[in-house]
Amino acid sequence: MTLADADDLRADLVSWRRALHAQPELSYQEVRTAAFVREQLERLGLRPSPPLAGGTGLTCLIEGRADGPTVALRADMDALPISEQNEVPYASTVPGVGHMCGHDAHTAMLLGAATLLARRPPARGHVKLLFQPAEEGGAGAARMIADGALESPAVKAIFALHVFPGVEVGHLTVCPGPATAASDAFDVEVIGRGGHAAHPHQAVDAVAVAAQVIGALQHVVSRQTDPLTPLVLTVGRVQGGFARNVIAPSVRLEGTARSLDPALRERLPALLERIIAGVTGALGATYELAYQQGYPSTRNDPALVPVLADTVEALLGSGRLKEVPPSMGGEDFAFYAERIPGLIARLGVRNEARGLVHPLHHPRFDLDEDALPLGAAVLAQLATRWLEAA
Ligand code: NI
Repeated sequence: MTLADADDLRADLVSWRRALHAQPELSYQEVRTAAFVREQLERLGLRPSPPLAGGTGLTCLIEGRADGPTVALRADMDALPISEQNEVPYASTVPGVGHMCGHDAHTAMLLGAATLLARRPPARGHVKLLFQPAEEGGAGAARMIADGALESPAVKAIFALHVFPGVEVGHLTVCPGPATAASDAFDVEVIGRGGHAAHPHQAVDAVAVAAQVIGALQHVVSRQTDPLTPLVLTVGRVQGGFARNVIAPSVRLEGTARSLDPALRERLPALLERIIAGVTGALGATYELAYQQGYPSTRNDPALVPVLADTVEALLGSGRLKEVPPSMGGEDFAFYAERIPGLIARLGVRNEARGLVHPLHHPRFDLDEDALPLGAAVLAQLATRWLEAA
């Protein structure tokens, strides 16, 4: 298979992506998207699975000419609660919902890979396609796994691509080892005692205490953990108080903790609590802390990197794949990669000349559709090459 095979699919890929883009659906609401995927797979003569993961996920097995191991390719399908600001013919028709993370492209590219693989099935072994819901915070991958997406037949390795506007179209990047951060959530209620702003000594000012807590939390990052072990603590929301002349009785802080090292991640609730307990206690306040683990850190199996490198070199020539450091973003592909060897790479979709430069999750994010045939070809080739070597 060459890039020309995928280029023949360009019109289909663009039309699929645009159809999905115009009808974005939020996590676990991907009803029309799943129906669209199912219809395209059936058109190829394939038999998609019954609905999974709450009803909007599905898998589809493409059988090789002889029995052998099974490798999986994954696309996420959900959109974001963002109003699209692009003025393009295929712009979102759903107010407040937009495909601003490119999952429309992921879905279209996996349909493209399905087309290529259905035309030319692997000589030995099988390819399982995973179309999953709810990557954006809903842990759709975990629901897919719970519903048996990695079983019968047992999946031995899994690959995925994520479009990325930081990389020029025609290029890819990969981070071997820990690639995305574990993303945990914490909520802190700082509890003081309300009163009149003119008489602070008769109250416990929760705003003043919360300010100290926010500052002191950064000591976890700067003074209490290894500087060579990445960690981000961000308080993204502060809520409290009634008026300028009223001392707030309580303040709520909402934050995220991003880490790459599982051992550090396990220590975080205790590290946060020590600071919060100490600062609030010293200033006469109390607190409530809720810490919730979110997606784990994605570990890209270094043993799968050569498969990607060979694939990219065969399709595009040399110098098109770059190794990059990890990202502190989250990605629920982590759940698959916890269980079986997995690899997720970034597919460049940037085109400065055409103004396609906005970051993921930006209301003006859009992508260079020249990346679609390339992504479809890379996915199909990853599966084919992995099976050849297995
Ligand atoms: Ni995404």
